[in-house]
Parts: sequence; C-alpha cells; structure tokens
Amino acid sequence: MSNIKDNEISALVEAAKDGFAKAYAPYSNFHVGAAALTTNGNIVKGCNVENASYGLTVCAERNCLAQGVISGEQAFSAIVIYTNQEKLTPPCGACRQVIVEFLAPDALVMAVNHNNDKKQWTVNQLLPDAFTPKDLLEL
Ligand code: THU
Repeated sequence: MSNIKDNEISALVEAAKDGFAKAYAPYSNFHVGAAALTTNGNIVKGCNVENASYGLTVCAERNCLAQGVISGEQAFSAIVIYTNQEKLTPPCGACRQVIVEFLAPDALVMAVNHNNDKKQWTVNQLLPDAFTPKDLLEL
C-alpha cells in the first residue's frame, strides 16, 4: 500500500468528518463524508447529495473526487470515507469505478466512523481487474 503518513490520515479523517457534517441526505438519512489526499499534498472533501428524484443521488466519494478535479487535481493517493455507522461503510460499486479512474491500484481507501474504528483496503482489493483508461488505448 502506498505510504500515507499518520498525520495525513488524521487530517483526512477530520476533513471527511467535515464533509459528513455537510451531507444532504433527507431521504435516506444516511450521511456520508469523504476526503481525498491529492498527489500534490492537498486535501479535498465531499458529501453525499441526494435528490427528490432518488436516482440522481451522488455519493460522497464521487463528489469528493469531482471537487478535486474542479480544483485542478486529477491524481489522488488516498481517500477516506466517514459515517456514523457501527458497521464501517465501504465505497459502493459506482464509487469504486470512479476511484479506479483517479487513484493508483495500490492507493489507500479507508473507512472510518464516529468511534474512530477503521478499515482499509487498496484500490485493487476493492475492484480487481478493473476497467481503466488503459483499456481504451486500443480503440
Ligand atoms: N452513499 C455514499 O455517499 N457513499 C457510499 O459509498 C455508499 C452510499 C450514500 C448514497 C445515499 O445518499 C446514501 O448513502 C444511502 O445509500
């Protein structure tokens, strides 16, 4: 797994918690925050944003990475997902695919909750044999 320092993890957890506090989830009441470390050492964050047309909901992880892209960063070395669930929240399938787009296979994905319980994976563990930009090269 890529080397992320303890102080960077702490900063990511704080940022993800901040994102969590901003979640717009009136339908599920399932609040999620996310924060990602860019390869330039910056932190971006996001939250889930739901919609009365439920299918238009966008998860915290995807909003977080989009926030990074909007601020000019397209490479990330870690992403943290924060919820207040006893059972730690792993990224959904759609988010795994978007994570693969912007994080290396050995990059860190970490779930954390209000008890500071933590679970971590590499990107490759969450989505092995992923379809990536490289698969488009033979077009
Ligand atoms: N959600 C996320 O934000 N990230 C995930 O990885 C799992 C699900 C959100 C979407 C929806 O607003 C709520 O959690 C319940 O599915």
